[in-house]
Order: sequence, then structure tokens, then C-alpha cells
Amino acid sequence: MRTTHPKTAVVTGSNRGIGKEIARQLCQCGFAVFIASRDMHDGREAADELCAEGHEAIFLHMDVNDPLSIKNAVGTFSQKADHLDVLVNNAGILENADVPITKMNVEQLQRAMETNVYGPIIVIQDFLPYLAKTPDGARIINVSSGAGSLQRMRTYAPAYSISKTALNAVTRQFAASLQDRRIAVNTVDPGWVQTDMGGAHAPRSVESGAETIVWLATEAPLTETGKFWKDKREADW
Ligand SMILES: NC(=O)c1ccc[n+]([C@@H]2O[C@H](COP(=O)([O-])OP(=O)(O)OC[C@H]3O[C@@H](n4cnc5c(N)ncnc54)[C@H](OP(=O)(O)O)[C@@H]3O)[C@@H](O)[C@H]2O)c1
Repeated sequence: MRTTHPKTAVVTGSNRGIGKEIARQLCQCGFAVFIASRDMHDGREAADELCAEGHEAIFLHMDVNDPLSIKNAVGTFSQKADHLDVLVNNAGILENADVPITKMNVEQLQRAMETNVYGPIIVIQDFLPYLAKTPDGARIINVSSGAGSLQRMRTYAPAYSISKTALNAVTRQFAASLQDRRIAVNTVDPGWVQTDMGGAHAPRSVESGAETIVWLATEAPLTETGKFWKDKREADW
């Protein structure tokens, strides 16, 4: 069965948190949204919730740490859509934020790199044929963090911060490589957001955290590419 809405989006890690809200807002903008989730139960539940609100949301099983799972997800996607307008690399992990780099276990850095950097690279590479088929130009948004900004970086969460700086570099590389193919690639700091990761004391709602990402996915000029954004303005790298 093909999607009903002609515009399509894939959001990784959209079973909860900021990703689920990005999916909701993209649905409200008229997209058929693929809820990419490594957890079958939570992913189906999130898709069902959006469908119950009258949207077109399709569960897509995907663990971004597993290249085969990504390939299988692209296969499932191709049975329902022939092009991809928007890809949001939102899935991410943050572990041991309080352990300084002097005590950091490099295996922790390895895990952060696998989910926050290698995963997005493979997801972009594997969905590229479908992004390239979008008639009006496609958009890729990588969900980064203020923690990845070199100008602001101090001792907080070394593995996570290094991985998000690397994700910003990945964004620049893809943006330059894909500019001639009308595919915009940007990276976003959503701010400190109330989710399982951000905690209960974070000042921002998921609605506010998702806003700039959805703006880049829908309204921002396609000529805006290779940039780091916060609150719809360019942020310091
Ligand atoms: N919250 C903040 O204050 C904040 C600030 C700056 C940046 N960010 C960034 O915003 C993004 C979303 O964060 P959040 O606050 O919504 O975090 P969250 O509530 O912890 O949600 C993280 C999401 O990523 C998914 N995920 C993790 N590893 C995965 C994997 N290997 N494969 C597929 N999905 C995976 C999780 O799936 P499971 O449910 O299966 O674990 C979950 O859906 C992240 O990239 C984060 O770094 C957040």
C-alpha cells in the first residue's frame, strides 16, 4: 500500500521525546511520516497515536546501530513510497554526562559515536536514492546539541559532546557533497528540552525543541544548507 500524502518524512527515534513531536508537527504540515523506532512496541504505539489524531504515520523498524536494520527499513519504506522529502536524524544517546574526559571510558565514546554519528551517516547514505528522487529538492536535518559547539565546550558530557561535534562535521560534508543535487543538509541545537534525556527540569517543551527542526524541514529556503541552527538563527560551531 502506498502513502496517501504525497510528501514523505522519516524521523529516527520518533517513538518518544523530541522525535515524536517532530513527527507530530510534520504530520500536521501534511506529510506521511515514517516513525523509525528500534522498539517495535513503542514505535507502533507512537504511530497508532498519531493515526488516531487523523494523521498518516507509519511504523518503520530501525535500530541506527545496526546497518542491516537500516537496510531493511529502507526496503520497507520502498514498498510504501518512491521518494523521500525529509529525513530527520534525531535518534541519540547521552550517557554519564558528569564523568570528565580524564575518567571517560573510551567504550562510552565508541557507543556515542555509533548511535550519534555512524548511524546518521549510514541512514543518509541508504536513503539517498529516495531523497534524490524528490522533485522539489529534499532536506536532511541532523539533531545535534549545544554540547557539540566547540566555542561553548567545557567539561560536560565528553563522549556525547565529541559525538555531536562530529555530527556537525558530518553535516558540513554531506551538505557540500549534495548541494548540486538540491538536497539541503543542516544541523540543529534544539535547546535544553524536557524529555527522558533532558530531564524534568529542562526549560523547554518538546513543541519548542521541535520547532526549528520542522521549520528547516518545511519552510526554510532550500539554499540554506551546511549550517548549525538554534531558534531559526545560525549558531556558533
Ligand atoms: N533533551 C534535550 O535537552 C536535548 C538537548 C540537545 C540535543 N538533544 C538531542 O535531541 C535528540 C532527541 O533527544 P530526546 O531528548 O528526545 O531524547 P530521548 O527522550 O532520550 O529519546 C531518544 C530517542 O532516540 C532513540 N534511540 C536511541 N538509540 C537508538 C538506536 N540505536 N536506534 C534507534 N533509536 C535510538 C530512543 O529510542 P528508545 O526509546 O528505543 O531508547 C528514543 O526514541 C537526540 O539526538 C539528542 O541528543 C536533546
